[in-house]
Amino acid sequence: MAAFIFIFIFLVLISDIFLHVEAFDANCPPAKCGDGAPDIRFPFRLKGQQPQHCGYPGFELVCKENSTMIQFPSYGDLVIQSISYDMKKLNLLDPKSCVHEVFLNLNLSLTPFQYYYHVKNYTYLNCSAQLSPSFEPVPCLSGSQYHVYTVESSLASRLSCMPMKTIAIPFPYSPYLSDNTFGLGLTWTLPGCNEEGGHCNLQSKTGDQTSCFNKGFSNKHLVIGLITGIFAFIVAILISIKIHNSKKLDGQKEKENHLQVQKSFGDYKAIKTAEYSIKRGLHQSV
Ligand SMILES: *[C@@H]1O[C@H](CO)[C@@H](O)[C@H](O)[C@H]1NC(C)=O
Ligand SMILES: *[C@@H]1O[C@H](CO)[C@@H](O)[C@H](O)[C@H]1NC(C)=O
Ligand SMILES: *[C@@H]1O[C@H](CO)[C@@H](O)[C@H](O)[C@H]1NC(C)=O
Ligand SMILES: *[C@@H]1O[C@H](CO)[C@@H](O)[C@H](O)[C@H]1NC(C)=O
Repeated sequence: MAAFIFIFIFLVLISDIFLHVEAFDANCPPAKCGDGAPDIRFPFRLKGQQPQHCGYPGFELVCKENSTMIQFPSYGDLVIQSISYDMKKLNLLDPKSCVHEVFLNLNLSLTPFQYYYHVKNYTYLNCSAQLSPSFEPVPCLSGSQYHVYTVESSLASRLSCMPMKTIAIPFPYSPYLSDNTFGLGLTWTLPGCNEEGGHCNLQSKTGDQTSCFNKGFSNKHLVIGLITGIFAFIVAILISIKIHNSKKLDGQKEKENHLQVQKSFGDYKAIKTAEYSIKRGLHQSV
């Protein structure tokens, strides 16, 4: 039982060390979807090309043709133009070229992402008549019989208009711009991982916990891990030698029992040989 516990602890220590070593030396070379496409590295991961432990959950990217895409269940695919790891910023493009449709539908509440720019509440109005020329309809949402406007919530009550939705959308945008990139920047947060200049990695293959380490700390950690590992290994060797010896003694006890049985049959010759082999065995093991 004691031996089992020791071996168990040994295995736990060893696997712990392997996990730590793996976390630091995760063998996750940056990937990209094409020439000039952004480098994909932690916390992002290219699905199907980089193993699961290379990225943080919720940061999976895919390649479509030569484009890097991020998939949002509330909206669909968005094209990633660039990733700034220093600024923690994603510059996105809507493949349908209608950024207001993204704002209307994209729900970031269950994702690790937030809008990069400050947000402000705006109301989307669906109007049967055109508003005064100071308001510009959103072309990609409007039709020939109706006109969709984005207005500050305080200006939302209009006779000919039906309010569609009031949502917080990135502030430094202009409804007049048909540019479909403007305002479509996202930033991200990793729980427990916001130390500046730190280095983030997953703690284990299965966990979604991140740790932050200052550069240089990882080497120290590895050395500690190796020393612990060597110590555990030596202890395990000593234990296995002990187990081996106690097994030998058990074997000799069995032989003695066997001798008793033979004695009762009066086989003197067998006794003599057995006694001799026991003496030899004891001599050898001392
Ligand atoms: C992707 O890039 C490769 C190499 O630059 C090019 O040959 C190929 O035509 C591109 N594919 C698409 C769908 O753009
Ligand atoms: C976003 O999703 C959350 C959870 O599903 C929900 O509670 C929230 O109302 C949604 N927000 C918007 C603006 O639709
Ligand atoms: C937008 O309006 C909602 C509901 O009135 C409010 O809870 C939220 O704080 C507002 N957001 C901003 C950015 O003003
Ligand atoms: C605006 O209203 C019209 C008529 O009620 C409707 O057909 C159209 O789908 C609406 N547009 C949007 C973007 O909801």
